[in-house]
Amino acid sequence: MDGNGRWAKSIGQSRQHGHKIGSSRVYEIFKTCTELGCNTATFFAMSSENMHRNDEETEFISQLLEISINEYFEELIKNEIKFKVIGDTSILSADILQVIEHAEHETENFTKYKLNIAYNYGGQWDIINSVNRALANNEPINQKTLSKHLTTHSDYPDLIVRTGGHKRLSNFMLWQAAYSELYFLDILWPDISQDDIKNIFNEYGNIKRKFGLIT
Ligand code: FPP
Repeated sequence: MDGNGRWAKSIGQSRQHGHKIGSSRVYEIFKTCTELGCNTATFFAMSSENMHRNDEETEFISQLLEISINEYFEELIKNEIKFKVIGDTSILSADILQVIEHAEHETENFTKYKLNIAYNYGGQWDIINSVNRALANNEPINQKTLSKHLTTHSDYPDLIVRTGGHKRLSNFMLWQAAYSELYFLDILWPDISQDDIKNIFNEYGNIKRKFGLIT
């Protein structure tokens, strides 16, 4: 979800305003994805590296996370959406952790849809974490055990969309992205529309995915 800061600057507003409007787009875009047949989506809110931004910004975004969960909790329940925050959440305050844990607990048995928020998440962290979990269980380090202990388990993204104009993964799901289709939009995140998602899904529908094989 890149581009909140630039979007806000372009209308003479604060970065915080950009993040606020950006966070308000998450659930709407998730709903669009589900209407187009996608049942799992992860929104990259904060990378491990983003957490080194100033306290004012990181604190504000963590509050947005709490506000968003409270705002959409009933929708998650009503629409049977399993909610999860992936990443190293140990840095969050007890209050926010409680809100996250409550939403995760209340939605944990839903299987219809999954909405993940990646917060203080890094693909490198996910892999290291997974290896350590396997080692702690005396399991061999192989594709199967590593995959099992990743935050996303066996959910690998079919497509990854990055807004904001940069063509890089910025430490997002490095293991899981091995065969993902990548889309880079010049649009700033708060400007993303349902039509943008529809266009990407249409294009994705025409791709013959080979996973390294011969079609
Ligand atoms: C990148 O844009 C965006 C972020 C680092 C934060 C993304 C956060 C949100 C969309 C709000 C939080 C959402 C939830 C659900 C908690 P940038 O700030 O780097 O933008 P710039 O490149 O234009 O400066």
